[in-house]
Amino acid sequence: MTANTHVSVLLAEAVAGLTIHSNGIYVDATFGRGGHSRAILAALGARGQLIALDRDPAAIAAGATLSDPRFRLVHAAFSEFDAVLDRLGVGQVDGVLLDIGVSSPQLNTPERGMSFRFDAPLDMRMDTTQGETAAEFLARASQSELERVIRDYGEERFAHAIAKALVAARGEHGISRTGQLATLVAQVVRTREPGQHPATRTFQALRIHVNRELEELSLVLPRALARLRPGGRLAVICFHSLEDRIVKRFMRDAAHPPQPPKGVPLRAVDLPQPVANLVGKAMFPSDAEIAANPRCRSAVLRVAQKVGPVAGPSQDGASQKPGAAQRRTSVTPARGRGAGGGGK
Ligand SMILES: C[S@@+](CC[C@H](N)C(=O)[O-])C[C@H]1O[C@@H](n2cnc3c(N)ncnc32)[C@H](O)[C@@H]1O
Repeated sequence: MTANTHVSVLLAEAVAGLTIHSNGIYVDATFGRGGHSRAILAALGARGQLIALDRDPAAIAAGATLSDPRFRLVHAAFSEFDAVLDRLGVGQVDGVLLDIGVSSPQLNTPERGMSFRFDAPLDMRMDTTQGETAAEFLARASQSELERVIRDYGEERFAHAIAKALVAARGEHGISRTGQLATLVAQVVRTREPGQHPATRTFQALRIHVNRELEELSLVLPRALARLRPGGRLAVICFHSLEDRIVKRFMRDAAHPPQPPKGVPLRAVDLPQPVANLVGKAMFPSDAEIAANPRCRSAVLRVAQKVGPVAGPSQDGASQKPGAAQRRTSVTPARGRGAGGGGK
């Protein structure tokens, strides 16, 4: 495996969760290196469509190898979901996949600055064309802001001490490299779970902050669900509890909307109605998948289905019943057009 490859997680489970209609319209909002996209294309028929998004220009460049007339790839954050679909003239869709988090190439490319395994500039942005880098944030944030980010996004109990040490160190020589940050944090965090680098939680926290990862997720979930046609599926893969909590609550509230207090004079028809059903239980990688790809060990897949009468897929009405086995074919070879541009 090279630094530029990504092993897709819960691949068969996620694609099965979408119950692909052969001529439906699907969105892979986190293209990465296109493993899920290729599997969706393999299940789609000639008139199906797949729109993929990624905010990382390196993912967009990698997508240029996936040439298929049914496929369009857009450089955009998934919070721009509606604007992207509007621009492409797409209304409702049959399924949306979100495989949240970072790709292996992002972690394995030193100059992305996401890993303490390499000494490199502290960038951490998924979209390297815009926004504040981690180094810039570390240079300007107040101690209390640093502490909040490291505590809330890293679930780090030494957040106060780390923030204090960062503020002292930046006054002396600035903090611009991953190696510096990892060494500084390791000097403060002296106890750590076995096998975990002392800076793991701080790196995670800064990355989540720099990329507004939790805000992005909170924004895209209602937008994706709103775009689904009745019977359409939303499949979300998360890698840590902060993300999964957001997805779990969102799907739970969509399936069991909070009701007004008892005694409020409302007719049954005026009570909040479910907008989605939960599909099965949360799914986790098998022992075999974890053995082959240890990075997937914390992954969890949740699927919800939009409620309402199922009129058939976007294009031809040849719908599969929810839960029916999806058609699996081999991966479509690259041919024809280049990846679509668009976006920023
Ligand atoms: C785990 S990888 C996806 C891997 C992909 N499913 C595959 O099989 O190759 C996550 C991808 O989502 C992208 N991403 C994360 N947050 C994003 C956001 N808010 N908007 C758009 N893309 C995002 C990252 O840049 C990364 O390429």
